Amino acid sequence: MRSAISLFSYLLKFIVKRDEYSQFVLAEYISSRIYPKLKFSEFGRRWLEDSSFFEYYESVMDKENWHSADRKFNLRNLMNLIKKDNEANLIEFGAYKGASALLMCEWANERNGSVYLLDSFKGLSEPGPKDGNYWQKSDLRATVEDVQKTLTHYSNFEIFPGYIPDSLKAIPEKVFDFAHFDLDLFQPTLDSLNYIYPRMSKGGVLVFDDYGFLSCPGVTSAVDQFFVDKQENVVEISSGQAFVVIL
Ligand SMILES: C[S@@+](CC[C@H](N)C(=O)[O-])C[C@H]1O[C@@H](n2cnc3c(N)ncnc32)[C@H](O)[C@@H]1O
Repeated sequence: MRSAISLFSYLLKFIVKRDEYSQFVLAEYISSRIYPKLKFSEFGRRWLEDSSFFEYYESVMDKENWHSADRKFNLRNLMNLIKKDNEANLIEFGAYKGASALLMCEWANERNGSVYLLDSFKGLSEPGPKDGNYWQKSDLRATVEDVQKTLTHYSNFEIFPGYIPDSLKAIPEKVFDFAHFDLDLFQPTLDSLNYIYPRMSKGGVLVFDDYGFLSCPGVTSAVDQFFVDKQENVVEISSGQAFVVIL
């Protein structure tokens, strides 16, 4: 009975006021009844008004798929932790069609930096015992041409096709300032971490796209296992990402 009264009052406000806040309150109320696990965040956040960000997002994602908007926004802004304002080296493990690479190329392009992109272009490698059963081998398959098309306005990137760890051998010896991990699986995440950690600059940043996802338990294990004896802390954020600043 109380629920019905609340719903009626939210509906009434929505009909009478027709303002954005009444829409938000009604949406929150209905959503909490249908899917209580989804916790609405506060009304009126600036990032939801960032039209240039959403223009980028809609240009790289399927229509009405907002599932990684928060992560892409965080990635874009976490790059601002990079201390070097000229000639930084950025690397991504797991480029797929280049959606996050586009943000990385844009950031690096304004600062004369370079972006190194790795992907098998055969989809995921074979999931192992720590990876649960959500993913199958060859899921998320893209092509080099997909990435080139996404990055068509940039020339500050290099693509390294092939399965990790083999493809790591082709990367030129560099100091890196930013690394984005988006491989969904335990073994390639651990292999990439073993490769990049000793090559990171002090103050460099590692971002793990899928650390906090129940579908990617292997990534959580790989990152936790790797940092257990390191001085850096892993910071998990509510989007499902985690990041580390190299000390
Ligand atoms: C979630 S997608 C990456 C999404 C991408 N960062 C974006 O912005 O859209 C995961 C990618 O990891 C790649 N991948 C998974 N295991 C790999 C491995 N062992 N070696 C190389 N690439 C791998 C897959 O081919 C796939 O493209």
